[in-house]
Order: sequence, then C-alpha cells, then structure tokens
Amino acid sequence: MADLDDLRDGTDFTGGETVRSDFPLKGLAGQDWGMRARLSRIFNPADGKTVMLAFDHGYFQGPTSGLERLDRSIVPLVPQADALMCTRGALRTTIPATNGKGIVLRASGGPSVLKELSDEEITVGIDDAVRLDAAALAIQVFIGGEHETKSIKNMSTLVDQGQSAGIPVLGVTAVGKDMVRDARYFRLATRIPAELGASFIKTYYVEKDFETITSACPVPIIIAGGKKVAEKEALTVAYRAIDQGAAGVDMGRNVFQSEHPAAMLAAVRGVVHDGLTPDEAFELFEQLSHAALAPVSL
Ligand code: 5RP
Repeated sequence: MADLDDLRDGTDFTGGETVRSDFPLKGLAGQDWGMRARLSRIFNPADGKTVMLAFDHGYFQGPTSGLERLDRSIVPLVPQADALMCTRGALRTTIPATNGKGIVLRASGGPSVLKELSDEEITVGIDDAVRLDAAALAIQVFIGGEHETKSIKNMSTLVDQGQSAGIPVLGVTAVGKDMVRDARYFRLATRIPAELGASFIKTYYVEKDFETITSACPVPIIIAGGKKVAEKEALTVAYRAIDQGAAGVDMGRNVFQSEHPAAMLAAVRGVVHDGLTPDEAFELFEQLSHAALAPVSL
C-alpha cells in the first residue's frame, strides 16, 4: 500500500513563466515530443548539428571497399559518430546494442547495382523500426528518375507510418546518371521531399549557390560525402556546406575508405561541431594519423 504518512502540500509556486527552450532544428519545433526526442538523438541539441556515419551502402552494392567486415571497419568508429545510418541487417548482426547512438535505419531497397536503381520499395515495417528503436527512417527519393513517382509515394507512405509511431523520415536525394548536379536540380530535389513530409533531407554539396538549397528547404539539410576524395578536399566540402547552412554531414566513403578512418572522423567532427577551418581540421587529421602509426612502446 502507498505510504500516506507525512503528505506535504506544495508551497513553491512562485516565479515567472516556465522557461521554454526553442527546439534547435529548422522547421521541426511543431513536431510531436517523440519525434523531437528522436531527432535529438541524431542532432546534438547543443548546436543543432550532426556527424552521421553512413555504412548502408551494402543494401545495393554488397561488400564495397571498406565495408567488407563491418565488425572491423565500422564498430571501432561508432563512439565518434553522433548517429549511424545503416540497414537493419548490419544493425542486428554487428552493431552493439549498447552503442547509445541515434540509429537512422535504411528503409528502402530492392534493385542492386545491376538493375535500375530508382525501382525501390519500402523494405522495413514500422513495427520492426520501433522494435529496433530507430531514431529515423531513411528512404531514397529519385527526382527526375525513371521511378520518380513511385519513390515519392514510398516516401509519403513511410512518413505516414513514421508520424504514427513518432519516427522522423530522412529523404535521401538520389541523383540519376542523367541529372545535372547543380543548385537548380538540388533545390527541386530537396524541396519536394520536404514539402511531402520528410523531417530532414540528405543531399550533395555543390560549389555554386549551395546556400540557395539550404535556404529554400524548410527542414535541415545534411550532406553526403560522395565518392572518396583526398581528406583535405572532403573536409573543405564539409566546412563549406556547414558554413552555407547545412546542419551536418552523413559521411561514408570519405571516412571508411580513408587510410585513417578514426582520424578522419575526428577531423570531420572538428569541422561540424567545433568550427575548425579545413586547414585546422586537416592538421588534426594528420596529427591523429601519425599518432595512430606511432610504434607502441612496451
Ligand atoms: C546510399 C546512401 C549512402 O548512405 C550515402 O550516399 C553514403 O554516403 P557517402 O556518399 O558519403 O559514401 O544514402 O544511397
């Protein structure tokens, strides 16, 4: 039975209005509590930014370079990421459930690299996403692609399911071979999924007018790293994207295909969360790489 001894009436009702903190993510302050809580496991609430580690490539490419053994290449990097973007297969087989990171679950798939990539379906049920404690669901949107309408329909279905469970959806801009990768295209390809309910959008950085893409998109934009380039170049892209309004990076190949993935991820964090310039971040990368190579004294 509940203890009824010494029940004390409250007396401290003074003070002004309860302090309300503004939710730090663009366009998402009106979302339900569960959505905002999950987004706060992806984006650091202190600065509204994220460093996501993407290693979902196997869902259409198989064991690409750097992802042959997720247990060896990815698991050691997990502590340095804010969030992990992966398939449910990778999650269940390889990622420790104690990782404490926001899980952005790849929820689309179908065609392999051998087929028409835009012909995707939804590949994860909302019940399983809840069971896996997903912080968000990621789905490809193929604006201008052969199956554009179907990919938009898939995304909208996932948004409906996500809203009912309090799970935000990441719309991933998938660029077909024939598309011109310029600001005009990316304004279209980011605005459409945002208008149709995605909570945040992943796209690519472009040199010219990237800020018009971030400003025209009503929800946060994060950038993919793209194909492997020299570390200094990738850090420069990350810096420029953040400087021009991106809320973070979702980097894969430029981290796990680097000679020094942990050093690279630390340098990317330096850019996104600590405002390091590309030169400063590259210096950090070099220092950490050399430290990793230093012989261990016995
Ligand atoms: C694949 C994806 C990947 O996660 C993304 O492209 C990976 O990042 P990177 O380009 O940095 O390797 O969404 O469709």
